[in-house]
Amino acid sequence: MSAKRPSKIALKTADALLAWYDRHARALPWRAAPGSNAPDPYRVWLSEIMLQQTTVAAVTPRFAEFIARWPSVEALAAAPEADLMAAWAGLGYYARARNLHACARAVVERGGFPATEAGLRELPGVGAYTAAAIAAIAFGERAVVVDANVARVVARLFAVERPLPAAMPDLRAATDTITPDARAGDFAQAMMDLGSSVCTPRRPRCLACPLSADCAAYRTGNPEGFPIKAAKPIKPQRYGTIFWAEHAGRVLLVTRPPRGLLGGMRALPTGPWADTPPGLADPPFEAEWQLLPNTVAHVFTHFRLELALAVARADGQAGVEEHCGAYWEATGIDSAGLPTVFAKAATAIRRAKW
Ligand code: ADE
Repeated sequence: MSAKRPSKIALKTADALLAWYDRHARALPWRAAPGSNAPDPYRVWLSEIMLQQTTVAAVTPRFAEFIARWPSVEALAAAPEADLMAAWAGLGYYARARNLHACARAVVERGGFPATEAGLRELPGVGAYTAAAIAAIAFGERAVVVDANVARVVARLFAVERPLPAAMPDLRAATDTITPDARAGDFAQAMMDLGSSVCTPRRPRCLACPLSADCAAYRTGNPEGFPIKAAKPIKPQRYGTIFWAEHAGRVLLVTRPPRGLLGGMRALPTGPWADTPPGLADPPFEAEWQLLPNTVAHVFTHFRLELALAVARADGQAGVEEHCGAYWEATGIDSAGLPTVFAKAATAIRRAKW
């Protein structure tokens, strides 16, 4: 990112923030201590992919598991994709796991991570935000890093009047004016920490904020009113059916087609998603399917899904060949690496009497 010369006030803002970070930085497992040498790019990349749309609290234990199992990008690239997909279960947004594997292989093939924002942007699954974050945190490049926490801090600092997400270009430009040449990674992470612990969405703690003296939203008396929010579109409601085929305490699990929702994940078989409940349409094989009275609901990014639960006894082979499936011990289903919606359904079905 080309460096805009920060103004005096911008330098003061960066200095105040970095001094605050030196005292208050969160100790997170993928981070180096403030002011110390840059951390391993593999750890930074892995953490940034995991942290897309997922909280620090949810990521922290899963990051530790991944690092213990695959301590280097070479180890991750050599892992079977199915292992990686199963290890990702519950983190959601499963395209990230597929891209993670493709990216690890691309990095190994080119002999290591690119050290610039532009080079990183070429990697599978690395978008504008992630490239900037890795460039700044792992390589010290002066990149402009704007995630949701940073966007909120900057919207308040400059009292940006446009609603999100339309304001993103304005917020990036404003962040550019306060990003320092030195300690770019610390600056980015300081903004993230300020956003998550002080400049919070509700009830920001302005009296503890190192930037309040220069904060335009604070001066309005209603910092919480920023960023201005656009009305949220209503998510469409869709319906489907999950099919639970059981034989001698074992249940049929399939591998979902590689593309599309939850692509490539191990799952319970489903019929189509539809605008009205599809009942017993498209079972994995013909049997005496029976619908249970309860359903399971899940909210995805673009729609809500309500799933009916169909159960049947099977012969222990039915559906295996056609659906890349296997019969899995029902009592051990928690270790199958099922996405959350299927894990919820499995719990509901195992509790039901049928
Ligand atoms: N969210 C995204 N990247 C992060 C990081 N490096 N530290 C804390 N929260 C983050």
